[in-house]
Amino acid sequence: MSHYNRSHALMQRGTDFLGSEHAILCGAMSWVSERNLVSAISNAGGFGVIACGAMTPDLLDGEIAATRALTDKPFGVNLITMHPNLFELIEICGKHGVTHVVLAGGIPPKGSVEAIKAFGAKVIVFAPTLALAKKLLRSGGDALVIEGMEAGGHIGPVSTSVLAQEFLPALAEEHLVFVAGGIGRGEAIAGYLEMGAVGVQLGTRFACATESIAHENFKKAFFRANARDAVASVQVDPRLPVIPVRALKNKGTEEFTAKQREVAGLVDSEGLAMMEAQLQIEHYWAGALRRAVVDGDVENGSLMAGQSVGMVKAEEPVADIVTSLMGECEAALGRRPVAA
Ligand SMILES: Cc1cc2nc3c(=O)[nH]c(=O)nc-3n(C[C@H](O)[C@H](O)[C@H](O)COP(=O)(O)O)c2cc1C
Repeated sequence: MSHYNRSHALMQRGTDFLGSEHAILCGAMSWVSERNLVSAISNAGGFGVIACGAMTPDLLDGEIAATRALTDKPFGVNLITMHPNLFELIEICGKHGVTHVVLAGGIPPKGSVEAIKAFGAKVIVFAPTLALAKKLLRSGGDALVIEGMEAGGHIGPVSTSVLAQEFLPALAEEHLVFVAGGIGRGEAIAGYLEMGAVGVQLGTRFACATESIAHENFKKAFFRANARDAVASVQVDPRLPVIPVRALKNKGTEEFTAKQREVAGLVDSEGLAMMEAQLQIEHYWAGALRRAVVDGDVENGSLMAGQSVGMVKAEEPVADIVTSLMGECEAALGRRPVAA
């Protein structure tokens, strides 16, 4: 019998869908969610997701193979919809028989969902509004992640608690919905499960796990930080459709403001197309995150982190984090009075 009877009962549809022991996804984090962290999450009973980010098809090919060598448990691949080689990346996933593909970063382009389903994989989508969520679930999305603005990385404008109240009553009965953003402890997981979520997705809480290859400077910055240090970037030019990013405040935060001014200048002086301008901004983030995660430059790099960073105080093995989360969730559900 499971130690987590109550949690597992509420997670059942999520675990059936993912094929994992617990319905806890570790959301893809560019540069962080590679073979080591992804396999550790899946081996600990969660569901790891490789962050393809700006990888070339060749690099993704190698990363999937290397992850597979470290775990025989299921894991997914997160693809950014605006990647110029999206369809080649999908082919690579097909070649390896990847079972779950997460499409992030915007509305999936025409044909992408079909291309994924053609090799039998499940498609997980994100949606910022209920109307779009319904549309994506009608047109092939198998599960939905709703992600609030407490999260680390690219964010929308609405908090997780409000999204959960808007989306779950409308969708949870018929569809599989996972909740992300600001989850640091299992009590919060219990709450979202009771509202109808089939599982959750966390990023910040796992970013500094022992198995994470993030530079020790990056990890130390997380351990020192409080919730209020994880701030959203500001948009300096109303014409530039910059998606806000939540990260720890540092010099890089200011550099991003300067970068936006530079790109806005190119739009004015050289007629740079908006799509290209947005791509330049995204390349900037990928480079800045790499500087912090891989090189340990925590001054100028981007320390993407969610508000739950205040609950990350020390390096812990993934298995311990998962055990804590599940234990807290189960204890919280056990405290609810049982009807006579
Ligand atoms: C360092 C970092 C990098 C991230 N990179 C990506 C990414 O490449 N693609 C993506 O879909 N989400 C990305 N995210 C979001 C996570 O997948 C996840 O949804 C989020 O961290 C959940 O919220 P939390 O940080 O409050 O736990 C990133 C988050 C962090 C903290």
